Amino acid sequence: MRVPFLDLTSQYREVKDRIDADVAEIFATSAFVLGKHNRGLEEEIASLHRVKHAIAVNSGTDALRIAMQATGIECGDEVITTAFSFVATIETVVQLGARPVLVEIDPVTYNVDPAAIEAAITPKTKAILPIHLFGQLADVVAIKEIADRHGLFVLEDAAQAIAGERDGVPTGHWGRACGISFYVTKNLGAAGDGGLILTNEDEVAERSRSLRVHGMGRERYYYDEVGYTSRMAELQAAVLRAKLTRLADWNARRSELAAIYSHELAGEGLTLPTTAPGNNNTWHQYTVRHPHRDALAAFLKENEVDSAIYYPVPLHLHKPYAHLAQGPGSLPVTERVCQECLSLPIHAHLSDEQVRFAAAKVREFCRSHAVAR
Ligand SMILES: Cc1ncc(COP(=O)(O)O)c(C=O)c1O
Repeated sequence: MRVPFLDLTSQYREVKDRIDADVAEIFATSAFVLGKHNRGLEEEIASLHRVKHAIAVNSGTDALRIAMQATGIECGDEVITTAFSFVATIETVVQLGARPVLVEIDPVTYNVDPAAIEAAITPKTKAILPIHLFGQLADVVAIKEIADRHGLFVLEDAAQAIAGERDGVPTGHWGRACGISFYVTKNLGAAGDGGLILTNEDEVAERSRSLRVHGMGRERYYYDEVGYTSRMAELQAAVLRAKLTRLADWNARRSELAAIYSHELAGEGLTLPTTAPGNNNTWHQYTVRHPHRDALAAFLKENEVDSAIYYPVPLHLHKPYAHLAQGPGSLPVTERVCQECLSLPIHAHLSDEQVRFAAAKVREFCRSHAVAR
């Protein structure tokens, strides 16, 4: 039995009629940019997150960069975040001339460890940038409390956590601005790149809208600041709106599959993913840890079960970001997690049998590689 990591064709099949009709209309009318699908998507995502403003842009990376610039992150500022993320989280900070200050993650949720934040605050610190990794929110209650106490603000990297909530409050409310990614593999994925900024602040929204079109002010071809070319294509917005009608069901199915994995894999010596109290996990990934991770991945591959490593190398051990830490050993929890983590297939178009089969293969490996923990 084959267990694929993704099945984008099945996603498309569910909404094919709507996508095909919308794409045909876009070509027939040549309404390719910033049209009704952009506006519709912005309204629908704002309403899903109960946030005042949503600004569609052309990637999650741009969403972060624009959100930071629009909230005033600039040269010389420090932004506290972690090294267990996709590179875009810190790349964008560096591109603005600011410095990412990398602190440890919580070994249970893999999100920023609030206890590590306070020691990293300096007079240059301006913001805390938690990543809501693998579909669940970081400990935003503790993070917000620390930020408020030190006169800092929070920015959310919710690239992997659309529709995520903490204590019933969706992502997008915890920070001054929040970036979402619609990269193809995300829970809500475009047919290419796409992203979106959420904010409750009118000024941040207005500045973000300007930054996505080169910093243009209200008057055409008059510029207020140096911006970007970051419009979302109407084709992408149309695809996303069609898939958005299925997102709640797809996320619910991910949750069912996560429960199957957790049941089938309990007591096998693996570290299983844990959802923190108060969080609704959207299960972007189901990530386990095993000390013989590479051998486990190879065994799964032999048995036609896909897997993926998010992330094999922490950000501070990549050449362009090496100056942000003291080399190997400087973030031991993060480094260990990177050596041990493995994400198993979890998406709405897997059957219970496929997930049970994948879990059985993981179990078989664990039993032949028992480790003392
Ligand atoms: C945590 C995180 N931040 C930022 C991004 C950047 O998003 P995009 O790939 O849409 O530019 C991603 C997406 O891969 C991500 O996973």
